[in-house]
Amino acid sequence: MKGVILAGGSGTRLHPLTKITSKQLLPVFDKPMIYYPLTTLILAGVSEVLIITRPEDSSSFERLLGDGSDFGIEITYSIQEKPAGLAQAPLIAERFLNGEGFCLILGDNFLYGSGLGRKLQNLTNIQGSTIFAYNVSDPTQYGVVEVDSSGHALSIEEKPKVPKSDLAIPGLYFFDSEIIDICKKLNPSARGELEITDALKEYMRRGSLKVEILPIGTAWLDMGSFESLLEAGEFVHIVQSRQGILIGDPLTAMKTRSKTN
Ligand code: DAU
Repeated sequence: MKGVILAGGSGTRLHPLTKITSKQLLPVFDKPMIYYPLTTLILAGVSEVLIITRPEDSSSFERLLGDGSDFGIEITYSIQEKPAGLAQAPLIAERFLNGEGFCLILGDNFLYGSGLGRKLQNLTNIQGSTIFAYNVSDPTQYGVVEVDSSGHALSIEEKPKVPKSDLAIPGLYFFDSEIIDICKKLNPSARGELEITDALKEYMRRGSLKVEILPIGTAWLDMGSFESLLEAGEFVHIVQSRQGILIGDPLTAMKTRSKTN
């Protein structure tokens, strides 16, 4: 299974830190941010990873992660020239994907919960798209999905002022190869970006979008603001020191994966 980490963007909410480095290289307690989504991909069973970065940050990511052999995976890199939207990621990754389905994760997404690896590993033979939904107190900051009682998506909106539900869409998406054609046909939104939510709406229109609600007890944080960055660091610190384990460590994740397979 292939995975793509989108780790570009301007990170303006974290200025001045992101004037000199990439957001996804900032520390989250004792590790660089990108370790956390990379660990999620490893737990999902991904072995080939493409990391998309800003042009000026690419060499720093390569210095940190190399070709992935330290973690038992293959890592390659691509550049996003400008932050033109999340739905540019599949287009940049087109050659790497070579017609296969894949898992896309945003470089600032932190996901932690019991059974998450197993749940994600079950999604390897993806048809259509599968996304997740997570109950939040303020959905206006996110993509929001409305589902009926049997879990079918009824509507999807990007940062709605009046949300139709409390279910935010975390930055972890599974797509089949149709995503390339879908993204090629998208038009930029009012904020000038190719929106991933527009691609999801197309899957919904075709009847091939699945939504899985993440259970209570799963921790999902995006780490794009000073508050959420601090919260993620505190969460990692508390769980690690209390339980004596490592969270977001790619090597530990690979050992866990090898033991369970
Ligand atoms: O975190 C989940 C949310 O992520 C979803 O619920 C939304 O539907 C989705 O649009 C996205 O919203 P954000 O406002 O968090 O997107 P943001 O612009 O902050 O970008 C998310 C990450 O992707 C961030 O780490 C920067 C990176 N990025 C962003 C853009 C627009 C890129 O690498 N390239 C880009 O062009």
